[in-house]
Amino acid sequence: MNREILEKLEYFLQYYRDVYGKDFFVDSRRIARLEAELPRIQPTIPPQPQRKAPMKQPPKTRTEFNPDEKPHTPLWDFMRSINTCTKCALSKSRTKFVFGDGNEHADIMFIGEAPGADEDRTGIPFVGRAGKLLDKLLAHIHLKREDVFIANILKCRPPNNRDPLPGEVQQCIPYLYTQIEMIQPKIIVALGRVAAQNLLETNASLKQMRGRLWQYRGVDMIVTYHPAAILRNGGLLNPTLEDFKFLAELYHEKIRRGKTGH
Ligand code: URA
Repeated sequence: MNREILEKLEYFLQYYRDVYGKDFFVDSRRIARLEAELPRIQPTIPPQPQRKAPMKQPPKTRTEFNPDEKPHTPLWDFMRSINTCTKCALSKSRTKFVFGDGNEHADIMFIGEAPGADEDRTGIPFVGRAGKLLDKLLAHIHLKREDVFIANILKCRPPNNRDPLPGEVQQCIPYLYTQIEMIQPKIIVALGRVAAQNLLETNASLKQMRGRLWQYRGVDMIVTYHPAAILRNGGLLNPTLEDFKFLAELYHEKIRRGKTGH
């Protein structure tokens, strides 16, 4: 549009504004009505096709150990052959025999003390708070409990979680020997003072036992704090993480040597 036309148009508009008021070419009442209705006629976002909410899956918790679910392999057949054991008085007070669980071909085997209340109820080792912490320690070195095997010195819970009695250990530990022979781990990790003292047959303190490599029944063994002890004393976490780092290094060194044959 050239300047002349624009000027004419402006003049024309001004004329109508002067004569009819500033809203001369719109129906202001209609606009007010529309505005009042606006919330109702607001375009709504067309309903999205409803995505079916994913069914809430129960968290994958290991609920109960079922001996019948385990395959017929030497280790699990051995479990089925001993899980009705009555060699000591703990068989009378136990709810479930806790054989141990995990990968029967594991390179790393963890050995704790004895089942606690949660383990006695479920038949699965290390499922209580200490077990959850053990899972985290494993994750710290990029392992899952399915990668390792976890067992205890005793297969049945001592009342009130008292320390295992020497007679109970004597009766029960041969089961552990058989487990070690069948699993043939490359590394054993003793969890806590009671486990380590019973395996090494010593009264040494945990501080004295950790930080070095032991041999147990021909297998490299390291000793570290029991996760329950870390829950009681957070100061033990850092030294335990150091032990797990040592474990990871030892494990990778063994794998590397296994591959190269050196
Ligand atoms: N503490 C243990 O030593 N073993 C378990 O299985 C659970 C807690």
